[in-house]
Amino acid sequence: YRILVLNGPNLNLLGTREPDKYGHQTLDDIIVQLTDLADQYNVAVEHFQSNAEADLINKVHAAKDTSDFILINPAAFTHTSVALRDALLAVSVPFIEIHLSNVHAREAFRQHSYFSDVAQGVICGLGPIGYELAMLAAFQQLSSNDK
Ligand code: DQA
Repeated sequence: YRILVLNGPNLNLLGTREPDKYGHQTLDDIIVQLTDLADQYNVAVEHFQSNAEADLINKVHAAKDTSDFILINPAAFTHTSVALRDALLAVSVPFIEIHLSNVHAREAFRQHSYFSDVAQGVICGLGPIGYELAMLAAFQQLSSNDK
Protein backbone atom coordinates (compact mmCIF):
# COMPACT_ATOMS: atom_id res chain seq x y z
CA TYR A 1 0.00 0.00 0.00
CA ARG A 2 1.00 3.62 -0.53
CA ILE A 3 0.40 5.95 2.41
CA LEU A 4 0.85 9.69 2.17
CA VAL A 5 1.81 11.47 5.40
CA LEU A 6 1.00 15.17 5.43
CA ASN A 7 2.13 17.64 8.06
CA GLY A 8 0.92 21.22 8.18
CA PRO A 9 2.37 24.53 9.30
CA ASN A 10 5.09 24.88 11.93
CA LEU A 11 5.57 21.13 12.28
CA ASN A 12 8.95 21.58 10.55
CA LEU A 13 9.98 23.19 13.85
CA LEU A 14 9.26 20.12 15.99
CA GLY A 15 12.04 19.47 18.47
CA THR A 16 12.45 23.12 19.38
CA ARG A 17 8.85 24.31 19.07
CA GLU A 18 7.04 24.46 22.45
CA PRO A 19 8.61 21.16 23.59
CA ASP A 20 6.35 21.11 26.67
CA LYS A 21 3.42 20.60 24.28
CA TYR A 22 4.99 18.83 21.29
CA GLY A 23 7.97 16.96 22.76
CA HIS A 24 11.64 16.89 21.77
CA GLN A 25 11.53 14.71 18.69
CA THR A 26 12.04 16.36 15.34
CA LEU A 27 9.76 15.73 12.38
CA ASP A 28 12.60 13.79 10.75
CA ASP A 29 12.84 11.54 13.84
CA ILE A 30 9.11 10.86 13.64
CA ILE A 31 9.18 10.09 9.92
CA VAL A 32 12.20 7.77 10.26
CA GLN A 33 10.41 5.77 12.99
CA LEU A 34 7.21 5.68 10.99
CA THR A 35 9.03 4.52 7.86
CA ASP A 36 10.80 1.75 9.83
CA LEU A 37 7.44 0.45 11.00
CA ALA A 38 5.88 0.86 7.56
CA ASP A 39 8.70 -1.21 6.03
CA GLN A 40 7.71 -4.13 8.25
CA TYR A 41 4.22 -3.98 6.75
CA ASN A 42 5.37 -3.49 3.19
CA VAL A 43 3.82 -0.04 3.19
CA ALA A 44 5.43 2.73 1.15
CA VAL A 45 5.40 6.04 3.01
CA GLU A 46 5.60 9.35 1.20
CA HIS A 47 6.02 12.38 3.46
CA PHE A 48 5.28 16.03 2.75
CA GLN A 49 5.33 18.98 5.14
CA SER A 50 4.37 22.49 4.19
CA ASN A 51 3.58 25.77 5.85
CA ALA A 52 1.47 26.73 2.82
CA GLU A 53 -2.18 25.75 2.53
CA ALA A 54 -2.08 25.70 -1.28
CA ASP A 55 0.83 23.26 -1.38
CA LEU A 56 -0.95 20.87 0.98
CA ILE A 57 -4.11 21.09 -1.15
CA ASN A 58 -2.14 20.37 -4.32
CA LYS A 59 -0.52 17.36 -2.66
CA VAL A 60 -3.96 16.03 -1.68
CA HIS A 61 -5.11 16.43 -5.30
CA ALA A 62 -2.09 14.46 -6.52
CA ALA A 63 -2.85 11.73 -3.97
CA LYS A 64 -5.99 10.77 -5.89
CA ASP A 65 -3.81 8.76 -8.27
CA THR A 66 -0.82 8.00 -6.09
CA SER A 67 -1.98 7.12 -2.56
CA ASP A 68 -4.30 4.59 -0.94
CA PHE A 69 -4.57 6.40 2.38
CA ILE A 70 -3.57 9.72 3.95
CA LEU A 71 -2.34 10.36 7.48
CA ILE A 72 -2.61 14.08 8.15
CA ASN A 73 -1.67 16.42 10.94
CA PRO A 74 -3.20 19.62 9.55
CA ALA A 75 -1.70 21.58 12.51
CA ALA A 76 -3.29 25.04 12.75
CA PHE A 77 -5.21 24.44 9.49
CA THR A 78 -7.24 21.92 11.51
CA HIS A 79 -9.13 24.82 12.97
CA THR A 80 -9.31 27.08 9.92
CA SER A 81 -9.23 25.31 6.58
CA VAL A 82 -12.46 24.52 4.77
CA ALA A 83 -10.33 24.37 1.61
CA LEU A 84 -8.12 21.52 2.83
CA ARG A 85 -11.19 19.66 4.10
CA ASP A 86 -12.85 20.08 0.70
CA ALA A 87 -9.71 18.81 -1.05
CA LEU A 88 -9.77 15.60 0.99
CA LEU A 89 -13.45 15.11 0.22
CA ALA A 90 -12.86 15.84 -3.46
CA VAL A 91 -10.29 13.09 -3.92
CA SER A 92 -12.07 10.69 -1.57
CA VAL A 93 -8.86 9.10 -0.33
CA PRO A 94 -9.58 7.88 3.23
CA PHE A 95 -7.64 9.66 5.94
CA ILE A 96 -6.83 9.68 9.65
CA GLU A 97 -6.38 12.99 11.50
CA ILE A 98 -3.45 13.13 13.94
CA HIS A 99 -2.43 15.63 16.61
CA LEU A 100 0.58 15.29 18.87
CA SER A 101 -1.07 17.22 21.68
CA ASN A 102 -4.46 16.66 23.25
CA VAL A 103 -6.28 19.48 21.51
CA HIS A 104 -9.30 18.93 23.78
CA ALA A 105 -7.26 19.88 26.83
CA ARG A 106 -6.12 23.17 25.29
CA GLU A 107 -7.65 26.47 24.17
CA ALA A 108 -11.30 26.44 23.11
CA PHE A 109 -10.40 27.36 19.51
CA ARG A 110 -8.49 24.07 19.15
CA GLN A 111 -11.53 22.01 20.02
CA HIS A 112 -13.19 22.40 16.67
CA SER A 113 -11.74 20.57 13.69
CA TYR A 114 -12.81 20.89 10.06
CA PHE A 115 -11.59 17.31 9.52
CA SER A 116 -12.79 15.07 12.33
CA ASP A 117 -16.33 14.42 11.05
CA VAL A 118 -15.05 13.23 7.67
CA ALA A 119 -11.95 11.35 8.91
CA GLN A 120 -11.83 7.56 9.34
CA GLY A 121 -10.66 8.35 12.84
CA VAL A 122 -8.76 10.84 14.96
CA ILE A 123 -5.72 10.29 17.21
CA CYS A 124 -4.62 13.07 19.53
CA GLY A 125 -2.64 13.59 22.69
CA LEU A 126 -0.33 10.58 22.37
CA GLY A 127 2.69 12.31 20.86
CA PRO A 128 4.73 10.82 17.98
CA ILE A 129 3.42 7.27 18.46
CA GLY A 130 0.10 8.61 17.18
CA TYR A 131 1.57 8.51 13.65
CA GLU A 132 2.53 4.85 14.07
CA LEU A 133 -0.84 3.90 15.52
CA ALA A 134 -2.55 5.66 12.64
CA MET A 135 -0.35 3.81 10.12
CA LEU A 136 -1.33 0.47 11.70
CA ALA A 137 -5.02 1.41 11.56
CA ALA A 138 -4.69 2.46 7.92
CA PHE A 139 -2.96 -0.83 7.09
CA GLN A 140 -5.73 -2.78 8.80
CA GLN A 141 -8.46 -0.91 6.91
CA LEU A 142 -6.72 -1.32 3.56
CA SER A 143 -6.11 -5.02 4.05
CA SER A 144 -9.67 -5.69 5.19
CA ASN A 145 -10.96 -3.86 2.08
CA ASP A 146 -8.96 -6.27 -0.05
CA LYS A 147 -10.47 -9.38 1.48
C1 DQA B 1 -1.38 20.21 16.48
C2 DQA B 1 -2.44 20.94 17.31
C3 DQA B 1 -2.89 22.22 16.62
O1 DQA B 1 -3.89 22.88 17.40
C4 DQA B 1 -1.71 23.16 16.46
O2 DQA B 1 -2.10 24.31 15.73
C5 DQA B 1 -0.53 22.52 15.83
C6 DQA B 1 -0.20 21.13 16.17
C7 DQA B 1 -0.80 18.98 17.21
O3 DQA B 1 -0.17 18.16 16.55
O4 DQA B 1 -0.97 18.85 18.42
O5 DQA B 1 0.22 23.15 15.10
O6 DQA B 1 -1.95 19.78 15.26
